[in-house]
Amino acid sequence: MKLTPMAPQCGVEVSGVALANCSDAEMDAIKQAIYEHGVAVFRDQEFSPEDHIKFGRRWGGIDVNNYFPLQEEFNEIAIVKKEPDQQTNIGGAWHTDHSYDQIPAMGSVLVARHLPPSGGDTMWAHMGAAYDSLSDDLKEQIEGLEAYHTADHVYEEGGLYAQTDMGKNLRGQDLKTGAIHPVVIRHPHTGRKMLYVNSGFTIHFVGQTREESLPLLTKLLDAALTETNQCRLQWKPGTIAIWDNRTTWHNAMNDYQGHYREMHRITLSGEALAA
Ligand code: SIN
Repeated sequence: MKLTPMAPQCGVEVSGVALANCSDAEMDAIKQAIYEHGVAVFRDQEFSPEDHIKFGRRWGGIDVNNYFPLQEEFNEIAIVKKEPDQQTNIGGAWHTDHSYDQIPAMGSVLVARHLPPSGGDTMWAHMGAAYDSLSDDLKEQIEGLEAYHTADHVYEEGGLYAQTDMGKNLRGQDLKTGAIHPVVIRHPHTGRKMLYVNSGFTIHFVGQTREESLPLLTKLLDAALTETNQCRLQWKPGTIAIWDNRTTWHNAMNDYQGHYREMHRITLSGEALAA
C-alpha cells in the first residue's frame, strides 16, 4: 500500500489496496491516514453496495442519514444525486456533516456511481491546519469556548434546502437537531487540535446571541478557508473517498449543469468530542 499526499496540508491518495478485501493491518493504516490527512482517495476500486455496507460495519458502524433519499434495496446507503434539470446540489457549500448531532458521525465513505462528463469535483479543507494558522490572540479568544450547532434551518420545511429544487428529494423535515461542542476539539485518535465550527451548522457561541457571536465566528470561518489547507478531488469511475468530519470541512462543486451525477454515501459512526 502506498500513500501519496494530495496537497501539502490535506488529503492522501492510497494506492495498492483493494478496499473491499483489505487486511486488518491495511484497515488500521487506512484509518490512521484518514485521521491525519482528513481524507483518503482510492482509485479503480470494485466496490458493490454490499461491499460498501460491509466496509462501513467493519470500520465501526453506520449512522443512517436522516435527510437524503436512501437506496431502495440497501437502505444504509444514502443517495447523493443531482438530476440534469436540477440547479442546486447536495453539499454545495463548505460544511462538516453531522456537527448538529451530540455524537457526530466520524466521517463518510463516498462512492462515485455516475459522473458528469466534467466537473463535479469535491474539495476538503483541513481543520487542524486551520487551527494552527490562527493568530495567538485568536487561539486565546476561543480557548474554552463552546458553540451550538443545528441543521433545522437547512432541512426543515421552508428551510434553506426546501427553498431550492433539492427540497423535493428530502426526508426528515420534521426532525429537530441541536448539539453543543467545544470550538476547539482534540481529535479523538491523533490528539491534534482542530477548529470545530462550520458555516453550515454552527449558529452561535454558548452564552452569546447569534449577533454577539457573528464577529468572532465570521473571523474563524474566514480563517479556516485558505487555499493552503485545501485539496481537490477529480472523480473518475471507480473512485472512492473516505473522510473524517472532525478533521475536515468539504464542499461539492456545482459546475456541471445539465448533467446527471450520482454518488452513494455511507456515514460512519463517531464518538463524543472533547476539548
Ligand atoms: C456531501 O456529502 O456533502 C456531498 C459530497 C459530494 O457529492 O461530492
